Amino acid sequence: MKITIFGSGYVGLVTGGCLADAGHRVLCVDVDKAKVDALSSGKVAIYEPGLESLIRENLAAGRLQFTADAQQGVNFGELAFIAVGTPSGLDGEADMTFVRAVAEAIGQHMTDYKLVINKSTVPVGTADLVTTIIQRALQERQKHIDFDVCSNPEFLKEGAAIGDFKRAARIIVGTDSDRVEALMRECYAPYNRNRDKMMFMGVRAAELAKYAANAMLATKISFMNEIANIAERLNADVEEVRRGIGSDPRIGYDFIYPGCGYGGSCFPKDVKALNRSAHMAGYHPALLYAVEEVNHRQKQVLYTKLMYALGGPPRDMRIAVWGLAFKPNTDDLREAPSLQLIDQLLAAGAHIQAYDPEAGTACAALYAAASALTICESSHAALQRADALVICTEWPEFRSVDLMVLAQELGRRLVIDGRNVFDPARCAAAGLTYYGIGRAAEVAVVP
Ligand code: UDX
Repeated sequence: MKITIFGSGYVGLVTGGCLADAGHRVLCVDVDKAKVDALSSGKVAIYEPGLESLIRENLAAGRLQFTADAQQGVNFGELAFIAVGTPSGLDGEADMTFVRAVAEAIGQHMTDYKLVINKSTVPVGTADLVTTIIQRALQERQKHIDFDVCSNPEFLKEGAAIGDFKRAARIIVGTDSDRVEALMRECYAPYNRNRDKMMFMGVRAAELAKYAANAMLATKISFMNEIANIAERLNADVEEVRRGIGSDPRIGYDFIYPGCGYGGSCFPKDVKALNRSAHMAGYHPALLYAVEEVNHRQKQVLYTKLMYALGGPPRDMRIAVWGLAFKPNTDDLREAPSLQLIDQLLAAGAHIQAYDPEAGTACAALYAAASALTICESSHAALQRADALVICTEWPEFRSVDLMVLAQELGRRLVIDGRNVFDPARCAAAGLTYYGIGRAAEVAVVP
């Protein structure tokens, strides 16, 4: 099939690369000319395991191309995926500027049938909006050209996006048209071989399913963080509680890891946008507002624990920070708990020695003006002459560190472990003072 993908961001590139890899001919369109040039020569600015080689192989095979020319994009594919960003507006509402612009371009330039597929995370009702925009543009051109709009939400996790696309748990398509169903089956056939993963449903249900999935996962995390905060006050170890409850298949072990809060490009934005949509529809989603509030509070926990352990603000102290990205295997800093901590440390007059295997450069750019923040080349370098260590992201390499070395390096022998990477008993044996999230025998210092 000939397929156009509008938006060469994270979702667009993974979708384009994987569909090209399946044998389709794919043209990716982006308004950013410099990005298009870089991608055309096989350079991918995003850190995602396997993505650059996927793009390069398919460029070389001639199945994948990039352009900044929207008209060329519209003319190319019978299928047109919209995979542009929908950032949070001031009031939490998803900003639809880029989605509207693509719909506008399709309406202005199309000359034959198009199936327009919404892959961006968009509020319920967006398929109707896109339909209206295209219809209006066609009317202005006095053209009667057939088209369909469907919803096909993505559920990719950063760091595992290609596997998630190729071996998706489900492929949801919101449509009531047989023609659309047939085209979408053909598009996804290479990745729908062993069992039928395609689910067809109403377009609004598909749009809401994306938000509901992310809100459910965010709820699991905030719930577990709430239990961790209770565990601290009741002198129980939340890691034992986690093992206990995860064994019930109705609860399951996934996504019940307590920590210093969820971040990333999806959960914070999508929970906010869903709350906003509910509010606009006259409903107060009390549970989902609480999910946001608990997460906001949880991101403060690291600094509060540090203050408590030090007996006051870390003014003029050296604080090592391990892990900056919002989770391991990505260089993405969006809504990362580390940023909250860095802001608080800088405001308190501390010196920060931060290390992340992938996100160091992005963090340095973000804090270019902050002379009190040093990005270090290794986890060990970040410990030099530091008073205390705070862990924000559970990169695998942190798990194998020698705790004795840690105890020697850290002036105050203090570790605040925001992801429960270390074993409290082993830390104690190494002479470290340890604060995790919801571990036993800790003083509750959550605000
Ligand atoms: C998420 C969804 O998983 C994905 O399906 C959707 O399409 C996009 O949003 P992603 O943002 O890449 O993917 O990250 P994810 O692995 O889900 O983690 C999100 C955040 O939750 C991270 O900050 C992570 O540290 C945190 N988290 C996750 C926890 O605190 N505890 C857990 O048990 C799981």
